[in-house]
Amino acid sequence: MATVTKESNMTTVTKICCIGAGYVGGPTCSVIAFKCPHIQVTIVDLNAERIAAWNSDTLPIYEPGLDEIVRACRGRNLFFSSDVDKGILEADLIFVSVNTPTKKSGIGAGLAADLAYVESATRRIARIATSSKIVVEKSTVPCRTAESMRAILEANSRENIHFDILSNPEFLAEGTAIPDLLKPDRVLIGSLQSEEGKRAQQALAAVYANWVPRANIITMGLWSSELSKLAANALLAQRISSVNALSAICEATGADVDEVAHACGLDSRIGPKFLKASVGFGGSCFQKDILNLVYLSESLHLPEVADYWRQIVTMNEYQKTRFFELVIRRLFNTVTNKHLAIYGFAFKKNTGDTRESAAITLVKQFIKEKANVHIYDPKVDDAQIEMDLTDPSVATPAEFKKHVTIHHDAYSCAQDVDAVVILTEWDEFKTLDYEKVYRNMNKPAFIFDGRLILDTTKMKKIGFQVDVIGRQVY
Ligand code: NAD
Ligand code: UDX
Repeated sequence: MATVTKESNMTTVTKICCIGAGYVGGPTCSVIAFKCPHIQVTIVDLNAERIAAWNSDTLPIYEPGLDEIVRACRGRNLFFSSDVDKGILEADLIFVSVNTPTKKSGIGAGLAADLAYVESATRRIARIATSSKIVVEKSTVPCRTAESMRAILEANSRENIHFDILSNPEFLAEGTAIPDLLKPDRVLIGSLQSEEGKRAQQALAAVYANWVPRANIITMGLWSSELSKLAANALLAQRISSVNALSAICEATGADVDEVAHACGLDSRIGPKFLKASVGFGGSCFQKDILNLVYLSESLHLPEVADYWRQIVTMNEYQKTRFFELVIRRLFNTVTNKHLAIYGFAFKKNTGDTRESAAITLVKQFIKEKANVHIYDPKVDDAQIEMDLTDPSVATPAEFKKHVTIHHDAYSCAQDVDAVVILTEWDEFKTLDYEKVYRNMNKPAFIFDGRLILDTTKMKKIGFQVDVIGRQVY
């Protein structure tokens, strides 16, 4: 069965399968289905529970605007299934959008990407496919991964089947995934520079061209495309670490990091985005992808280059430690048996995702200091918080129960606490009735703003002892 139709030397995609129904595969392919009603899109995953959630009224991930998109096309041309093989068999084009976490053991542990999921998805495509397909790396992968995928596909597939491999990295950010996908700054499609490779590249470009202006669809070689994804994340994270490094200087000198960032950002060569100082960047990508770049540099015998990129992560750890030490110092050098309200547990606002959230590092340190921690986040599930903090080196399940209380509103969370610590920039934390929060706290009442979202003059006036990243508060 030939599922790829070729008309006047042009390959037309009519059926897409996406392997991996996660934060990237789910929203990305839902938007493709939404914008391309003539294409059948099936998103498959080994995790049947996750697929059941995609087929229910409560989607497995929180992302503003996603519900509406899924509701508009699920059952029409968008399907979620745990039948991975059927998805592979039917598709002209397959996105591989599986997780690529940092390796936990073996060669490259702590730095390299674990490509086991990419490899197992690739092997499955090779084993199951009965017709030629375009296979697209959607996952973020180290440079030249497409070469390994090609070797696996060619060595394991049936006769007369041809696979074209493309790199199409995803640049969406969580919390803004839907607007990012509907109006991407650019779509990147890398391919081999052979005639077949270019034809496959054009076939995928034609899918995006249903809603993305052609000028924003960039084509290039495979290795440049793979490396561009790691490079973009490293450059973004570098800006945050740079501004966080400046925040330490600001606290020591009396300069204000928001003012400095504003002044620098007005230079059109620098630009204003990604210059918000914070308690440290989190999320599933930045640290992982920079470490991946460090590993790549080391493997290429470029130690100076590796050290350069590593410093971004080192600075991020320093920022978290600095903030933790500030809280301890201000609370008279001990938080043992004190009560702390943690506002925000997600790694950024508008997501329920907690992967690599600075809150995890901070709260674990507070628990180690034997503080009583009260946590409120508008979107993170209780079970997720419990899972993130369950760590035998920090607390036994009994100690966790004793030291951590999860709340479902910000006011109860701060009742009778000594300090409020803001770790995620949720909008609702800007508009709380802080007089009420203050009234119900132990005195002196401390507030630590790790996201620079509070009006510090107002907080001082209410009576709070106020500390903010990157600014002295008088
Ligand atoms: P995720 O963990 O949310 O989802 C991955 C899914 O793949 C899981 O549901 C898992 O069950 C499934 N899976 C793994 N192996 C499989 C297999 N062999 N067959 C079928 N299903 C399989 O991960 P994510 O956040 O969606 O990230 C996916 C990739 O995209 C990663 O490489 C990541 O670096 C990259 N990325 C992520 C983001 C982001 O914001 N999360 C942004 C850009 C790129
Ligand atoms: C990032 C990239 O932005 C995206 O292009 C890529 O596809 C995946 O990785 P994401 O991690 O979802 O996206 O969110 P992002 O908005 O980049 O924020 C990452 C972390 O940096 C968050 O913890 C956020 O709070 C922090 N951040 C961001 C800052 O501390 N300051 C800033 O100015 C911007």
